[in-house]
Amino acid sequence: TTRVWKLDPNNPDPEIIARAAEIIKKGGLVAFPTETVYGLGANGLDGEAVAGIYRAKGRPSDNPLILHVADLEMAHRLSRSLSPEALLLIEQFWPGPLTLIVPKGGEIPQQVTGGLGTVAIRMPDHPVALALIKAAGLPIAAPSANRSGRPSPTTAAHVRTDLEGRVDAILDGGPAGLGLESTVLDITGPCPVILRPGGVTHEQLARVLKNVTLDPSVLGEKLPKDQAPRSPGMKYIHYAPAAPVILFEGEPEKVRKALSCRAEELSAMGKRVGVLATEESAAGYSGQAKILTMGRRKTPSGAAALLFGRLREFDRLQVDIILAEGIETKGIGLAVMNRLRRAASEIVKC
Ligand code: TXA
Ligand code: MG
Repeated sequence: TTRVWKLDPNNPDPEIIARAAEIIKKGGLVAFPTETVYGLGANGLDGEAVAGIYRAKGRPSDNPLILHVADLEMAHRLSRSLSPEALLLIEQFWPGPLTLIVPKGGEIPQQVTGGLGTVAIRMPDHPVALALIKAAGLPIAAPSANRSGRPSPTTAAHVRTDLEGRVDAILDGGPAGLGLESTVLDITGPCPVILRPGGVTHEQLARVLKNVTLDPSVLGEKLPKDQAPRSPGMKYIHYAPAAPVILFEGEPEKVRKALSCRAEELSAMGKRVGVLATEESAAGYSGQAKILTMGRRKTPSGAAALLFGRLREFDRLQVDIILAEGIETKGIGLAVMNRLRRAASEIVKC
């Protein structure tokens, strides 16, 4: 059975943290909140414990994990060398939603890295996550705490839906703040490359780094034949609710019209339609569709915070199909659109 412990996110009870840390040290699994999404943690230096994460999630074992650290010293121990560039990024963005891909150090089990010569490291900006890592005295390996392929969990309730009975404990610290995962930045090559857009935006990184580029997979572009993705996670279907998602992109008024037509068509065929709409267009959809909103177009941080929860809500409403409006790819909007494109089975350009 899974124990669920509620705690104050700003002032976590040290006794609960100590019990959770004990589970981690003994090789068990603890789900915990971070500032991005909930993570499913295990001792990052224990290959057997890490294997348990893959089993609980049903995750392919060649998709490597992020090691979460609570101080710079831990990061130094996990990497063969942290370059001046790495140290600059750490100074600017840690603790925070930036994961760095760096050359891996000696003591990291291959279950963490999927056999790669590099390792992903980040320092989360959440009192519960930091307290848990410190109390365990170990780097904590943690992917998002969802069943593989499902939207990442932004509340403890989402984690329970996916993992109740499959993990030892869940720390309930309320909703995760950002709602989308960290930015994954590979700094092992000649130029830094964003492998996954996330909480730290491309624009923010470009202010600190020269030549930071986006991996082609970020924009949802097809990779050239025979080219393996740089981030193994990119080749898997992801973030998908039970119903298929059709994404409509382009000029807002055209999107509204095209989406309306498709919604009416599908409703007429007897389908239960869900519409994921911006606040501005929501009133423009009539008929039988279940409409859920994701905030205003001008504030993509709202869409980021709401997206995964909305996709899960459509599951609860048991819709047959979800029609989603795209938003602009500026700032955190890029991460929102990356998740929507990867959840979509069809993209309609309007
Ligand atoms: O916000 C987050 O990053 C959350 C919280 C819990 O920290 N974690 C998270 O983990 O999203 P996960 O496992 O769902 O995503 C990790 C991503 C995957 O796409 C994986 O392929 C990539 O990081 N990754 C991990 N190690 C890598 C490496 N050595 N080289 C390239 N990509 C790597
Ligand atoms: Mg994930």
